[in-house]
Amino acid sequence: MSKKSANFYVTTPIYYVNDKPHVGHAYTTIMADVFARYQRKLKGKENVFFLTGTDEHGSKVAKSAKSRNLSPQEFADVISDEYKKIWKHLDISYDEFFRTTDPRHETVVQDYLQQLYDKGFIYKAKYKGLYCIGCEKFLPFDEIINNACVYHPNTPLVEQEEENYFFKLKDFSSAVLDEIKKQSYKILPIERENEIVSKIKGGINDVSISRSGVSWGIPLPWDKSQTVYVWVDALLNYYSATKIYPDREKFWPPSLHLMAKDILWFHALVWESLLLANKLNLPKVIFAHGFFTVDGQKMSKTLGNVIDPETLVNEYGSDATRYLLISSFSFGNDGDISLEKFKEKYNSDLANGIGNLVARIAKLCETSDFDNTNILTNEFSSEVLKFMDQYRPDEAIKSIWKRIADFDRIIGEDKPWQLEPDKLKTKLHSYIASVLGIASDLEPFLPKTSDAIIKIFNQNKIRKPDSIFPRKS
Ligand code: MSP
Repeated sequence: MSKKSANFYVTTPIYYVNDKPHVGHAYTTIMADVFARYQRKLKGKENVFFLTGTDEHGSKVAKSAKSRNLSPQEFADVISDEYKKIWKHLDISYDEFFRTTDPRHETVVQDYLQQLYDKGFIYKAKYKGLYCIGCEKFLPFDEIINNACVYHPNTPLVEQEEENYFFKLKDFSSAVLDEIKKQSYKILPIERENEIVSKIKGGINDVSISRSGVSWGIPLPWDKSQTVYVWVDALLNYYSATKIYPDREKFWPPSLHLMAKDILWFHALVWESLLLANKLNLPKVIFAHGFFTVDGQKMSKTLGNVIDPETLVNEYGSDATRYLLISSFSFGNDGDISLEKFKEKYNSDLANGIGNLVARIAKLCETSDFDNTNILTNEFSSEVLKFMDQYRPDEAIKSIWKRIADFDRIIGEDKPWQLEPDKLKTKLHSYIASVLGIASDLEPFLPKTSDAIIKIFNQNKIRKPDSIFPRKS
């Protein structure tokens, strides 16, 4: 990740408003927040743009709205507010919350597609295939197992035949491959890049960019009987956001698009081709993380195992929820989470780990009548810099926890309570410098904890605080 370039623009997928947010959406958004906070500290607030939002058009949203007797717009308003609420509770520091029903976006999308149409990159044709409303796409053969979608096995596939407008995706695939080869555009982790490259080399079809039977969408400017395919509308949010909000144009192209592997194809090829067709620079990095299950099972309403992030925040608070999600599995691989494991991890890593360390050092300071002259460090450790540069926030946070464990052990070996006053003071100075270093490293990950530690140790008279992570029984 380049620290030299002046601007950093990070995005999350924009989430469908067919249902309220779950912990999978929270995971990607927390990771994006970590990158945004990290870069703000390196580059300054004004040089970072963090975009998230909601994807509000399409048949899936229209269908959910209908089942609740609301208009799609009313329903989108309710669910997008749910997203905003949980992001607030998780301390997500987005700069803009994007909604695809924003009329300014609708104009950008129409203008964009009109340009492609005028350039001859769009044509009309018949399409027949199996449509998955969960994915909002016609499924390719390799995503159908036992006549069902791999990601939405309980959603029946619908055979559809339509006359749609198509974008000449095939015409751009070799140009996209060239960009990947030059590494001016990267897909991470590398295994994902290999997957995409071999899929492109295996041959691809043009892609439909409009729907004739879906009224809840943006009308095509040259044929109002069709609406823009929800995926094209949604991808263009990343571009629109730099157009419709003042002073954002400087952020183009995006530095980092985050998502899970389920939606990599659209992001890794369709999006770049749409951009190349309008001669726009490609994003620098697309990172597709893994998918997680809950207690070994796919999260699903039918199984009743969907975890609401609000429940986690109520139980543990925002920082602990962030910690548990960031550190529970490796960024980029599939993983599994469980509420039982969360509790154990909370007690061992937060209550006994950082919570205990802070209390221990503060108590030593308080009981030895110590005057603090330490100055807050605002730098990241070399380990955090290294792992964030490799797009590994999970490893970065692990490195902080390793330091916490080592630190605890060293205090045990030092036996500061046996030292004479002068030696003890020198020791405490070094402890406080280290704990403030940890607070600085923690800032992108656990912003409240970082602040709390700084408040405790960045003052002259240090007092033992109430436990920052009380044990859970
Ligand atoms: N609306 C599209 C995205 C358009 S972006 C231009 C969409 N929305 S979604 O609501 O289905 O969100 C999918 C994303 O949610 C995944 O890519 C991932 O970021 C997150 N996750 C949803 N479930 C998840 C897991 N079980 N595990 C990890 N991430 C998960 O697709």
